[in-house]
Amino acid sequence: MRIELCMGSSCFARGNSRLLHILEDLILQHEHISIDLSGHLCLGDCSNGPNIRIDGTIYQGLAETEIITIIENLIEKGTSHET
Ligand code: FES
Repeated sequence: MRIELCMGSSCFARGNSRLLHILEDLILQHEHISIDLSGHLCLGDCSNGPNIRIDGTIYQGLAETEIITIIENLIEKGTSHET
């Protein structure tokens, strides 16, 4: 699974700073899954952020609980893959 967190100033201020910590915790909880977390420059859609891209799909304006649910669901569905 590849997770790209927009680290542009708008997304970072609008929630991705918190999502970063949540994602780091999730990765620690799922050490057996290959999850590549990286920061990304502005994805060019600031007004709809905070933005996060997971395996090529962009999610926008996620609450903390929503990102956890999405990641957990993707892991359960086995969509994770080596990166
Ligand atoms: S800062 Fe994230 S889309 Fe611009």
